[in-house]
Amino acid sequence: MTHDQWTAVDGYLTDLLAPADEALTAALDDSAAAGLPAIAVAPNQGKLLNLLATVQGARNILEIGTLGGYSTIWLARALPADGRLITLEYNPDHADVARANLARAGLDKVVEVRTGAALDTLPQLEAEGAGPFDLTFIDADKANNPHYVSWALKLSRPGSLIVVDNVVREGKVARADESDPAITGTRAMFDLVAREPRLDATAIQTVGSKGYDGLLIARVTA
Ligand code: SAH
Ligand code: DHB
Ligand code: MG
Repeated sequence: MTHDQWTAVDGYLTDLLAPADEALTAALDDSAAAGLPAIAVAPNQGKLLNLLATVQGARNILEIGTLGGYSTIWLARALPADGRLITLEYNPDHADVARANLARAGLDKVVEVRTGAALDTLPQLEAEGAGPFDLTFIDADKANNPHYVSWALKLSRPGSLIVVDNVVREGKVARADESDPAITGTRAMFDLVAREPRLDATAIQTVGSKGYDGLLIARVTA
């Protein structure tokens, strides 16, 4: 199987089940024009996030790692009119692109893009009493994945969902001798989740237009 095949199948599935619209297309186009890396979730992955938030009945969503706001749009579209999404982004240029993309999508009243390193802004959220979040999507610097899961747990309630992107990275996650901090961070995250009695989790490998990767989904039980 090749990446071309995965991409062709993703095209087939996405055209049928997760078709682009003006706001999603423009969000990707303007992100590319602004020089942002093409590392947003695939459309069918965005639709998965949207469905998870809908099934969850989410009213309060947290995202760590905004980029141009593409996954943010998919998540925020699952919210009720009085729902709220806070998305954390380190790079102020990314945050500016995201704010424009979210405004064009009609979501600027629902979404707040907060600039800063997430390990600085997460304690602020706690101090403000911003949680509990019904769903947290973690998709930022992978080295900090264990810290982000700990924070997500702290800002959750029983029944909350925590989703972590990019947890397989072409299979590298299974290599105990990897020194890449993105991989060691993700492995430390898996150790934490496996040991944490308040989390009930699974992870699946995925292939598609974004390559060979995977997703962790955890439910907060207590
Ligand atoms: N969720 C997006 C993709 C996010 S890419 C989507 O699917 O559409 C990862 C983002 O995390 C980048 O924009 C990067 O600038 C941001 N990031 C990296 N380190 C961060 C940190 N310490 N705190 C917050 N965001 C960070
Ligand atoms: C990278 C980050 C992501 O969030 C992603 O989905 C793909 C790649 C990266 O940093 O390379
Ligand atoms: Mg990602």
